[in-house]
Amino acid sequence: MTKPKTMMHDIKVLAAGKYVPDRIVTNDDLAKTVDTSDAWIESRTGIKERRIASIETSADLAYRAALDAIDRYQIDKNLIDLVIVATITEPQKTPSTANMVQGMLGLSHEVMSFDINAACTGFIYALEVASSLLINNRFRHALVIGSEKLSSVVDHTDRNTCVLFGDGAGAMIIAKDHDQSSDACFYNAARHDHEDALVVKDVIQMDGRKVYQFAVGIMEQSIRRILDDSGMVMDDIDLIVPHQANIRIIESVAKSMDLPIEKFMINIRHYGNTSAASIPITLAELMAGIKHVMKRVLLVGFGGGFTWGSAILTIGGTR
Ligand code: ACO
Repeated sequence: MTKPKTMMHDIKVLAAGKYVPDRIVTNDDLAKTVDTSDAWIESRTGIKERRIASIETSADLAYRAALDAIDRYQIDKNLIDLVIVATITEPQKTPSTANMVQGMLGLSHEVMSFDINAACTGFIYALEVASSLLINNRFRHALVIGSEKLSSVVDHTDRNTCVLFGDGAGAMIIAKDHDQSSDACFYNAARHDHEDALVVKDVIQMDGRKVYQFAVGIMEQSIRRILDDSGMVMDDIDLIVPHQANIRIIESVAKSMDLPIEKFMINIRHYGNTSAASIPITLAELMAGIKHVMKRVLLVGFGGGFTWGSAILTIGGTR
């Protein structure tokens, strides 16, 4: 089956925000509880530290990231009529995390709110769903969040996984762009024949090498696919915002595509892998840094399932 090419959506990004818990757990801290070292973790992953939540749930993290976006870009929260949270660490099955956030923000009862689980690709999936609902004029302003409390599903005695993950959330508010000065397009996909590579039941179980090999190939393919579908070339893209799972994965993709590493926005050093939150946290930092300059960014992610996806968005500018 050949998937139809993506369409360009007239979507603008109004705001982005992030929240990470205050508590920093360094590699040296972890070396006190498992047989590992700062040198091993940094050289194999690029991670130096991660944030770990205590009593906060992924809904609390999502709420704080949403508030950051609303406050930072002075958005009237009453305009929001759609809330989607991408997460694999929801505090409970129901109410959904998005529904909790709706309540915490005091949004109207007319809002539609629900969660999406596509592992680490969840935020790109959620953006595509939100964008389609906006384009169809069913909704006007979507709050899209990626939020994870991965420390709640990590086996803290397993050195193969506990060094990799962190907690945090990133949020974005998007709307239909009636001026048609910004656009967005998406490519999302999945397969189910690699459950043994990454599964989260009570805790995360992972075959790191399998995930690594898959990630390097699929990230390159997803980048090429969205460029091809959108009719753009790499020179049309200012920055690539990849899922932050391992700096070596990103470096391999850069090398294989003959791209300078500076083309990739990387912050894994401070947060580790925050799954569905990693791309929106990075985007929020990027957007806060560029202020009024408009940039075209390419998002690319992969996750358990496997799932994978990419998107092209315009961010920044005087809005
Ligand atoms: N400290 C010290 N030694 C360790 C540690 C640790 N924290 N973890 C593993 N080791 C050991 C292993 O036991 C192994 O020892 P052995 O050779 O005696 O068996 C050795 O280090 C090398 O292990 P490798 O698996 O070869 O290490 P590798 O270089 O592949 O790095 C890693 C492992 C970091 C997990 C890498 O494979 C990786 O990043 N994979 C992708 C992971 C990923 O992206 N996961 C999430 C994707 S989806 C999502 O984000 C939810």
